[in-house]
Amino acid sequence: MQKIAMLGSGFIGRFYADSIHGQRSRDRVVAIYARSEANAKKFAEDYQCPIWSTNIEEVIAHPDVTMVCVALPNNLHETAVMLCVKHKKAVVSTKPLGRNAEEALRMMQAVEEAGVFGGYLEDLCYTPKFLKALDSVKNGALGRILWAKSREAHPGPHSNWFWDKEQAGGGCILDLGCHCVEISRNFIGKDIRPVEVMCWAATQVKPIEAEDHAIALVKYENGAIGQFEVSWTFRGGMDLRDEVMGTEGTIWINNFLRTGFEMYSSGKGADYVAEKAESNSGWLFPVGDEVNDLGYNHMFTDMFDAVETGREPLETFYDGYVVNAVLDAAYKSAETKQWEPVALPVWRGQEGVTQGITLVEYDENHYLIKEEITHDGRHKIILKEKQSGAIIERDL
Ligand SMILES: NC(=O)c1ccc[n+]([C@@H]2O[C@H](COP(=O)([O-])OP(=O)(O)OC[C@H]3O[C@@H](n4cnc5c(N)ncnc54)[C@H](O)[C@@H]3O)[C@@H](O)[C@H]2O)c1
Repeated sequence: MQKIAMLGSGFIGRFYADSIHGQRSRDRVVAIYARSEANAKKFAEDYQCPIWSTNIEEVIAHPDVTMVCVALPNNLHETAVMLCVKHKKAVVSTKPLGRNAEEALRMMQAVEEAGVFGGYLEDLCYTPKFLKALDSVKNGALGRILWAKSREAHPGPHSNWFWDKEQAGGGCILDLGCHCVEISRNFIGKDIRPVEVMCWAATQVKPIEAEDHAIALVKYENGAIGQFEVSWTFRGGMDLRDEVMGTEGTIWINNFLRTGFEMYSSGKGADYVAEKAESNSGWLFPVGDEVNDLGYNHMFTDMFDAVETGREPLETFYDGYVVNAVLDAAYKSAETKQWEPVALPVWRGQEGVTQGITLVEYDENHYLIKEEITHDGRHKIILKEKQSGAIIERDL
């Protein structure tokens, strides 16, 4: 059983607590740190936490606390993690791990040197759909992965600090791109090095210094391409979609806006529909169990099992650091308009992977390019002659 101290009583702190307490769960949020006494007391009352305080260190150090959950604005993650290290407390942190790779690397090294458990709360790599898709990819159902695209777009975050570049560390690239990069990285292979990034970013709508819209390509050492599309200016709800393309197959996942649950309401007696839904009348797209569909349940189960059995969780501080490094390169590329290298002073994956091309042998003299039955009833085959390199066509 884990006894958790929640740092932060805001949006994600409450989502996490809902997930942790879940359905007859034995793990409990026992302590809450919030800036204001009123917020700490309200959270403590809502989640029956015996310990509450406006002093962060007091909450982390409390002897009843077995694990700390960082649910604070991005600029406070490092301070919170360092206090956990000081008090040798297992820590799980929300995304992004740092505002940049430098912060993330310091956090990773600090927990590792102290021998403290560090889990990265990347919930979208734990949704039931994602876990099933990843299994299929790992079992080879899609062949060699060539392209993994992830999109997160919504009308913008819910608190002031997100919109402040200093506190948040960036705009939608950091806030949403962190999910997308880790999703693509999982599908392409976490041991494959992300080498360079090309990114377009702009502030198209909001009166802010950071970007509110961006698209990027992340090139991996084996030739695979990761792609992210992020926006704080998208209208119509929260669009969370992934696409994976391999030599033998394809996966499309829609996590949120089209889950197969559609509802019409005149708006009379309207209520909450789903995170970032922009309407509660007309045709609506509710989500059955957000805490589960967004991956929080599977994520905490993995974290708690990992800490209790002494193994690594699926998402670690190292993963958070790699994500930050990819996003740092994206920011640089958005400025220089060039492919920018991903700086990874610590890299634990494969080295020197070459780009694999799978040639399909047709016969002794030919490679197969394509076979197709056309609308006029022909069964065509397109081949490459090994010796001459000529591309030829035959009817079967
Ligand atoms: N899907 C996800 O994984 C997900 C979703 C939303 C947010 N997040 C992350 O969670 C973290 C918190 O975001 P949120 O949405 O809960 O924000 P929020 O604004 O709803 O809540 C933040 C909490 O931190 C407190 N806080 C703000 N400034 C503070 C300060 N200077 N000192 C101490 N406490 C302060 C607030 O009072 C509040 O309790 C961010 O890092 C964000 O990126 C993750």
